[in-house]
This record gives sequence, structure tokens and C-alpha cells, in this order.
Amino acid sequence: MNDELQALRAEADSALAACADPRALEALRVGLLGRSGRLTLLLRDLGKTAPEARRERGAALNRLRDELAARIEARGAELEAAALAARLAAERVDVTLPPRPRENGTIHPISRTMEEMAAIFGAMGFAVAEGPDVEDDWRNFGALNIPEHHSARQDMDTFYLPGEREGRRRVLRTHTSPVQIRTMLASPPPIRVIAPGRTYRADHDATHSPMFHQCEGLAIDRDLTLGHLKGCLIDFLRAFFAAPALPVRFRASYFPFTEPSMEVDIGWNRRTGEIGRGGDWLEILGSGMVHPRVLANCGLDPREWQGFAFGMGVERVTMLKHGINDLRPFYESDLRWLRHYGFSPFAPPMLHEGV
Ligand code: PHE
Repeated sequence: MNDELQALRAEADSALAACADPRALEALRVGLLGRSGRLTLLLRDLGKTAPEARRERGAALNRLRDELAARIEARGAELEAAALAARLAAERVDVTLPPRPRENGTIHPISRTMEEMAAIFGAMGFAVAEGPDVEDDWRNFGALNIPEHHSARQDMDTFYLPGEREGRRRVLRTHTSPVQIRTMLASPPPIRVIAPGRTYRADHDATHSPMFHQCEGLAIDRDLTLGHLKGCLIDFLRAFFAAPALPVRFRASYFPFTEPSMEVDIGWNRRTGEIGRGGDWLEILGSGMVHPRVLANCGLDPREWQGFAFGMGVERVTMLKHGINDLRPFYESDLRWLRHYGFSPFAPPMLHEGV
């Protein structure tokens, strides 16, 4: 390598070392190896070199070009690593600091109740399933054995949406039961799921909101019986209301998608609102053994599979549990109400604390 190239290399060396950021490095690269970079121009001028020296000079130039390209790339990687390290140092979060609860944020009682349901049923082996708020009338009604002109379709004050999906009318789901259908269609039994979520009915007064919440439950296996249903719901209600001796009553009822069907009542005092004693009964949820036709609609052979389902109103059990007697403030976002009835985000439901 002749003196001229040596000098160029030495110059590039110190320039490289001085490069402190990717932009300066890019400028240096363009100045040396770009289209009119110094090394590029030297290579271009190779033709003017005397033929006998050309080969040697060409090789030297090429070597220097490769060497510089590699060094520039290495320097670039160095700069990037340094930038990342600097960012990590600057944005460091000390995860060992104790939490600092802030007063201006609480978990809504509805969310809290659904979390508690997930915790209690989760401990019994139930997973949480979901479905969309906008359903089709087959999943909301038909597959659940509610025929076209059945009164339940009117009783539920259904919100129909314009347009169709796969030839089916679109509805805002009137209950969480279509998640039963979705779950059975999506995966083979055994099934144990709950499905908390929003539901809609065209109904609006002091005790009804057009949007409210339900929690569905579904268990399918080869040998589930009414006994399992009862045990499961009694355990749930006693844990949820933190009342180990809570009286629970099962009363024959009717739902098109369960057979037999049962309404579930808990003991309370109508006058004081106290749960667990007082001699009065309060209806709290619907339940039953999944109707064979519903199983068949989901491709399950009713001679092989059976199980139980239940559904309950989330607002209703929340109001009972916390002594809230008006439904409307649940949706009014009044901060005073939310601070009063809301829950700390830093204390999620824990089963060993009785949720
Ligand atoms: N879907 C019913 C309702 O909204 C409740 C229910 C669910 C009843 C599952 C039985 C079984 O009233």
C-alpha cells in the first residue's frame, strides 16, 4: 500500500473513532465509499494508472475498501449498542419499589364481581370463555332451542341490528347463553367454562338497564348430573356471599335450553336486605341440565355427553352483596359513587381471603 492509501486509512481511522452517532458515521461512509466518495473516485481513476501498476493498485484499493466497509459496519453496531444501553439506563424502572396506591382509580363493582366469579369458578376448574356482543339469532335463540316464533324472543325485548351475517339476523345478545353454543362448537368436551359479559334488552327503568351483565356457566362431560350442578352452585354462592351456611333452594322452572330447569334462590331478609338469614327467598339465577337438542345442535351426541348450564345477573348479585339498591349509578360514572363502591386495583380477589 502506498503512502497515499496509508494516509487515507489513517485519516479514516481517526474519523471513525471520533464518530459519536449514526448520522456522523453515515456521513463518513458516504464521504469514503459513496458514489463520489474518495475511495470510489480512486477506484474509478484506476484506468488512468499505468497498466503495469494497475493490478497491484487495484488490489490494494479493493482491500482498503473492504476493510473500511467492515470497520464502518462494526462501528455502527457499537454505536447502536451504546445507544440501547443508554436508553435502558435512562428508562430504568425499579420493580422492587413498593406499590404506591393512588386514590384516583378504582375497579368498578361490576368488574370486581366478574373477577370474583372467575376466581371462585377458576378454583373449581372452570376457564373463562368469551363471545361477541353482536350475535346472530341462531346462536342467541335457534341453537338454544328457542324456535322462530317462541315467546322468549319477544320476552327478551331483543335489539335487532340491520343487515345479516351468514344469512342470519344480527342481534345484540340478550343473554350470555350463546357463548355455550360457541364453546361447544369450538372445542370437544369435557368443557368447564364461565362466560361473564355484556348483554342487552330493550328495557329501561329503575331496575332495568338496556345494557347489563350476565355470567354464564357450562359444564359438559360424560357423567355430570343434577347433583354436580347443585354442589357447584351452592359452593359458588356460599363463597361469593362469604356465607358458609347460606341457605340455597332449587325450584323447578322452565328454560327452552335446559331440561330439567331450576331457578336458584338464596335465603335473605326482605326487610333488612341481610343475606343468609331472615326466612325470605330471593331468586338469583337460572340453571338446568343442558337440553339434548342443544347438544345435538352443537354436534354432540346426547347419548354420550351431558352437562349443566347456569346464568346469573352480575348487577343483581353485586347489588345484593354490597347493599346497593339503585341500578342506575352503575353506568353514570359519578366519581363519588365509583370511589365509594369501587375496589382497589392493588387488591385483586383472592380465594384464600374469601374473595
Ligand atoms: N339465559 C337465561 C336468562 O338469561 C339464564 C340461564 C342460563 C338459564 C343457563 C339456564 C341455563 O335468563
